[in-house]
Amino acid sequence: MTDATESAVFWEKHYGGLDPRLGTRPNAVLTALLADLAPATGTALDLGCGHGGDALWLAGQGWEVTAVDVSRTALDRVAGAAAAAGVGDRVRPRRHDLGETFPEGTFDLVTATYFHTPVALAREDVLRRALRAVAPGGLLVVIEHASTAPWSWLAGQDIRYPTPDEVVASLRLDGSWQVERSEAPRRTATGPDGQTATVTDNVIAVRRVA
Ligand SMILES: C[S@@+](CC[C@H](N)C(=O)[O-])C[C@H]1O[C@@H](n2cnc3c(N)ncnc32)[C@H](O)[C@@H]1O
Repeated sequence: MTDATESAVFWEKHYGGLDPRLGTRPNAVLTALLADLAPATGTALDLGCGHGGDALWLAGQGWEVTAVDVSRTALDRVAGAAAAAGVGDRVRPRRHDLGETFPEGTFDLVTATYFHTPVALAREDVLRRALRAVAPGGLLVVIEHASTAPWSWLAGQDIRYPTPDEVVASLRLDGSWQVERSEAPRRTATGPDGQTATVTDNVIAVRRVA
């Protein structure tokens, strides 16, 4: 695929200027959710993996992870960090502009954590495509911002975030799905300069039961 899509150009520039240490720890909301749901480890697909905090953590838990991002720089860092952590054989970095292409195959766990972008993207279509990548018995987990942190690129804008139930509705689930979580918990988040704020996330987990 081309390196020249608008998403690729934006995110490549972003990661080129970003401290490689940022985003290398797993999202606490995801680790808590999986501790709660306790799925058996298997294959996982991390959509918009960034610097790979979630992918590396999942691999450390025994998952075979396909880590997808549009940024080649981010994926190169994920590969390096996975090798350094001794999980290089369980992390497969794959480059896709998910607005254009999607990895083949099915997975026991598909995650999209803070899969947000300022570039135009049919995100709901990507998430519906992600449903088709979930193996029978598997989970799709979507964790997303439901409020604006003061340090966000969106700070100052008047944004109406969807409720978690609206996100679930946008997935257009049929009878082969069970909703495991549709909630909007609050947490204390830490910004890039160490500042803190209370933020809200949408946390959605749906299971393919048939
Ligand atoms: C806000 S970051 C979140 C990164 C990571 N999941 C996390 O929680 O730290 C959004 C990620 O989605 C990726 N992304 C944005 N648009 C994309 C697209 N069209 N295709 C693939 N990845 C994309 C970006 O490169 C970035 O790594």
